Amino acid sequence: MRILFFLPFLLNLLSNSSALDSLKGPQYITDGQNLISANDTFQLGFFSTGASTNRFLGIWFNEAPQTVVWIANRDRPIYNSSGVLSISENGNLELTDTYMGNTVWFSNSTYTTNPTSVQLLESGNLVLRDLITNGILWQSFDWPTNTFLPGMKIGKNLKTGHEWSLASWLTSDNPENGKYHYTMDWQGSPEIVMWYGTTKRYRTGSWIGLRFSGIPEMSTYQDMFSFYFTNNSDEISFGYSSKPGALPSRVTLNESGVVQRLVWVQNISSWSTFWSGPRDQCDYYSKCGAFGVCNANAATICSCLQGFVPKSPINWYMRDNSQGCVRRVELGGDKAYGFYVVKGVKLPDTHSAIVETIINLDQCREKCLHNYSCVAYSAADTRNGGSGCIMWFDNLVDTRFIDGGQVLYIKVAQSEIGTFLYL
Ligand SMILES: *[C@@H]1O[C@H](CO)[C@@H](O)[C@H](O)[C@H]1NC(C)=O
Ligand SMILES: *[C@@H]1O[C@H](CO)[C@@H](O)[C@H](O)[C@H]1NC(C)=O
Ligand SMILES: *[C@@H]1O[C@H](CO)[C@@H](O)[C@H](O)[C@H]1NC(C)=O
Ligand SMILES: *[C@@H]1O[C@H](CO)[C@@H](O)[C@H](O)[C@H]1NC(C)=O
Ligand SMILES: *[C@@H]1O[C@H](CO)[C@@H](O)[C@H](O)[C@H]1NC(C)=O
Ligand SMILES: *[C@@H]1O[C@H](CO)[C@@H](O)[C@H](O)[C@H]1NC(C)=O
Ligand SMILES: *[C@@H]1O[C@H](CO)[C@@H](O)[C@H](O)[C@H]1NC(C)=O
Repeated sequence: MRILFFLPFLLNLLSNSSALDSLKGPQYITDGQNLISANDTFQLGFFSTGASTNRFLGIWFNEAPQTVVWIANRDRPIYNSSGVLSISENGNLELTDTYMGNTVWFSNSTYTTNPTSVQLLESGNLVLRDLITNGILWQSFDWPTNTFLPGMKIGKNLKTGHEWSLASWLTSDNPENGKYHYTMDWQGSPEIVMWYGTTKRYRTGSWIGLRFSGIPEMSTYQDMFSFYFTNNSDEISFGYSSKPGALPSRVTLNESGVVQRLVWVQNISSWSTFWSGPRDQCDYYSKCGAFGVCNANAATICSCLQGFVPKSPINWYMRDNSQGCVRRVELGGDKAYGFYVVKGVKLPDTHSAIVETIINLDQCREKCLHNYSCVAYSAADTRNGGSGCIMWFDNLVDTRFIDGGQVLYIKVAQSEIGTFLYL
């Protein structure tokens, strides 16, 4: 902002040591100056990517400067080193291009006449506080880019409507908002969905108590992380924290549409991948169509669920599974049907499913049995032998076999139970 040029009494941080982790109005930093968190884990400053000279204000791991975890102006680069980060008169954090004389980005929090200060915390969170009330006015953790750090959330604040989600970079050289998004689908039984534009690409599967249905690996690194799932009147969200002494870690949605959980291995100075999704062919959304089931270990990965046959046998034979499967024998109207038990699956898409948390599995079965439109049910929470109830009323989409998967009960005509179908 022009004011910065014309008011010589403003304090530039350069005169202080470079190890500061916070700014108080009217201090500011220019391109080349950084804030460093108390114990040196994160740095905030200006950077460029690849061969480009565009400048972005961001936060990165001190030990891994290429690993940027947050960016203020991802869609509005500054074209040379004329960027300045300051606290504006109304208490907001503001990024200005002093050459162009415009505001490139600002924190857009509630305006205040109280003094404010911004601090880069050890968690990587950049927090703007009101110094009188000590209340948080704005924090970078509420505005994720492509990286999910311990302490952040993915989900929705039901009170304000604000959503926490990830958006990939456009390319590895360009942090602009890319095509992939990783967002919480809070309808039905909540799960995280990766989108490519408006097309579903991958689902984590719904939250089943301690982990997501489609990520059994989560139980293998519970010594390093704690996972939180919140469902109350304020918010529906998923988050995680690192256990004390755990190595730095992050979850990143990369520009090829893969979400990775990475842990920093200090002695080799590189990131180790603990998990990535989609992990195989079967993780791609609706790989085998409606009422199909995917088995990554089978010669032909798609088959129809018990009691169902390919809608188009010719296409199915040609490995085009998009039309999925249809019932072989229609359900009789006289309740002449039962449930076929499929073990070890990632539960089908729960977007339109109905969840009841207080009933048990037997009551769930009764409900599904006596409602003609119900096509399948399963436990909503797998802890303590299973409780709660998820019921599906339309196509079962994106079911796959997975190690450590759930039990799914599929409604079929009585005559189908006990017969086997190989395709
Ligand atoms: C910095 O590290 C020291 C020593 O490990 C620890 O006592 C202190 O709590 C850390 N500070 C922060 C802000 O994490
Ligand atoms: C920014 O770029 C303009 C035009 O290319 C140049 O005149 C100006 O000196 C540059 N400013 C800085 C701080 O590099
Ligand atoms: C600032 O926030 C308000 C309220 O959320 C919103 O209406 C407005 O568009 C925002 N302004 C900018 C520049 O983002
Ligand atoms: C979330 O909470 C609401 C209100 O308590 C409840 O009705 C709903 O079933 C819950 N959803 C899940 C998936 O637990
Ligand atoms: C994204 O992650 C996958 C899985 O680790 C990797 O194969 C791919 O190269 C990554 N893409 C980019 C652009 O880094
Ligand atoms: C790095 O440290 C781990 C244990 O912390 C050890 O198992 C591994 O061999 C070490 N790797 C190298 C290259 O030193
Ligand atoms: C079956 O369940 C659905 C969803 O809860 C409900 O809308 C419908 O009325 C039920 N049908 C009957 C016959 O109970």
